[in-house]
Amino acid sequence: MEKTFAIIKPDGVERNLSGKILERVESQGFKIVAMKRTRLSKVQAENFYDVHKSQPFFDSMTRSMSSGPVVLLVFEKENAIADWRKLMGATNPADAEAGTIRKDFAESIERNSVHGSDSTATAVFEISYFFAQSEILS
Ligand code: CMP
Repeated sequence: MEKTFAIIKPDGVERNLSGKILERVESQGFKIVAMKRTRLSKVQAENFYDVHKSQPFFDSMTRSMSSGPVVLLVFEKENAIADWRKLMGATNPADAEAGTIRKDFAESIERNSVHGSDSTATAVFEISYFFAQSEILS
C-alpha cells in the first residue's frame, strides 16, 4: 500500500468544502490514515514549499497557504500518489478535467483547494513534515 500527503487548502476549508472533498476521496477507495486541522505559519508554509522559493508566486502563495485553517491528511491506497493527483486534477483549474476536485471547486491556480505529493520522495518528506509515525494509523 502506498501513502500520499494531501492538504485541503484555506480556500477549501473557508468555503466548507472539506466534507465534499473527503467524500470523493473515500468513495474512490482511499483510506484516510491521518488527519488534522491546523493553521500554518508563513514560515511553515515557506519551508514546506521550499522547492518553489525562486518562483515569482512564492510569497503570495505562502501567504495564501497561511491565511486560514487547513486540513492535513495522509491517504493510503495502491497507487495513492498518482491516483490522488488524478482525482485533484491539473494545478490550474482552467486546465483541469471535468469531474476533478480542482475543476469543480478551485477558484484559481493559487486558490486551488487541494495539494498532493508529486513523487514517492516528496510524499515521504511531506508526511514527515507534519505527522509523527504514531499519528498514522493504517
Ligand atoms: P500545489 O500543488 O500546492 O503546489 C504549489 C502551489 O503553487 C500550487 O499548488 C499552486 O497553488 C501554486 N502555484 C503554482 N503556480 C502558480 C502560479 N503561476 N501562480 C500562483 N500560484 C501558483
